[in-house]
Amino acid sequence: MASLTVRKLDEALKASLRLRAAKAGRSVEDEVRMILREAAEPQDIKAPSGPARSQPQSHRARAASAADLPRVTLIIGGGIAAYKALDLIRRLKERGIHVRCVMTRAAQQFVTPLTAGALADERCYTDLFDAQSEFDAGHIRLARDTDLIIVAPATADLMAKMAQGQADDLATAILLATNRPVLVAPAMNPLMWANAATKRNVAQLARDGVSFIGPNSGEMAEANEAGVGRMSEPTEIAIAAEAMLHPPHTGPLAGKKILITAGPTHEPIDPVRYIANRSSGKQGFAIAASAAEAGAEVTLISGPVDLDDPAGVRVIRVESARDMLAQVEVALPVDIAIFAAAVADWRVANAGEQKIKKTASGMPPLQLVENPDILATVSKHQQNRPQLVIGFAAETQNLIDNATSKLKRKGCDWIVANDVSPASGVMGGDRNTVHILTRDKAEVAVDSWPMMTKEEVADALVAKIARTIGQQNS
Ligand code: CTP
Repeated sequence: MASLTVRKLDEALKASLRLRAAKAGRSVEDEVRMILREAAEPQDIKAPSGPARSQPQSHRARAASAADLPRVTLIIGGGIAAYKALDLIRRLKERGIHVRCVMTRAAQQFVTPLTAGALADERCYTDLFDAQSEFDAGHIRLARDTDLIIVAPATADLMAKMAQGQADDLATAILLATNRPVLVAPAMNPLMWANAATKRNVAQLARDGVSFIGPNSGEMAEANEAGVGRMSEPTEIAIAAEAMLHPPHTGPLAGKKILITAGPTHEPIDPVRYIANRSSGKQGFAIAASAAEAGAEVTLISGPVDLDDPAGVRVIRVESARDMLAQVEVALPVDIAIFAAAVADWRVANAGEQKIKKTASGMPPLQLVENPDILATVSKHQQNRPQLVIGFAAETQNLIDNATSKLKRKGCDWIVANDVSPASGVMGGDRNTVHILTRDKAEVAVDSWPMMTKEEVADALVAKIARTIGQQNS
């Protein structure tokens, strides 16, 4: 039998073998053996190599008839964002989802049941004791005759009632009587969202298994009010609903919740200027796409970037480091957290409320204060520390030494270290050369991967995560 020496192969072939091997987590020799074994197998039993991939099918492809349509009950709460709930009905229907609406009394101050009913697939329900209802024990049937309940907008008051288990109107009675998944899209003034009572209620609901989308940060309906509290956009909610209705059941990360941060953060100097960095978000978005394809339930919290939402991923857009931390806290608990964002280390303490004008004395000095370290905060979480916490180390010199001390200082399990010096072309570019630092007690091991596209790095990283989580759980 002929013998084969990998060293003697041409450079291009060796590079592609190294890439395949890194992706599959095998040595190059083992990868060659695997390729030969596959090639020798009869065609009809040949299995694909590399990380297993689910083939997510669009809902439209799967829905055979109207009777098969997934059903959503949309509970519209009483806030100014109620008008966006009308658009949400359209976005859900576009995705082939049957929509039934329920409105609270307060919601009817903002939009009418007639409009919601006209846009939805049936009339809108408003009363706990509804003589017109064709359902016996109406709220029980409404609570069960659905695949998912969405609460949008969810006001602070409605969430407080949910957390308490109150059931004094149709909406809360349905929420108490349901055994279906619930997706909540909060919308309120930033001070109400930041209030300790709201935080307690959100934490309680998350413990009860309720899923959240948003709120986003931005302008409020009230003049001169901005911050975290805006309801997520209808399309974001519809995508999250679709992901909950069709969770991928296959793939090595099926059943795992993954949180990923990506992109830069923008730290305001005044309403028109900000401090930022050159991060494009591409690596974090690629990891999110890859993790979703591997079957995970992925929440991607991204700073301002010019990238489309990856398929099947819940994307939450934020501006500043503090917004990002707030959203990360809402997304916990998760199984795996990957912090790929290039978070600004400092923010401006004396950010101007109005545009800072040029004066004869020049620009006023900017006072900078340190931002919270999101990775370190989550790594040291007492109650909600994910099973696997992965950070990135963007360095321009002494890559491995700096990354090793970052791994220890931040308390995470792995660091993905990369050289971001301008000569590397990594910041904003499409390729990346990474080194994976892993920790076993005091020992740090370094695994250096060849240069790959950011998608290939993402696939290889997700494959490594799946193997590790699989081993830890077996
Ligand atoms: N990180 C974070 N929150 C911060 C700063 C960084 O979550 N406020 C995370 C990044 O997402 C990354 C890791 O910490 O996963 C390292 O980020 P990096 O910018 O390389 O390091 P810094 O902590 O900012 O340290 P330095 O700027 O001194 O290199």
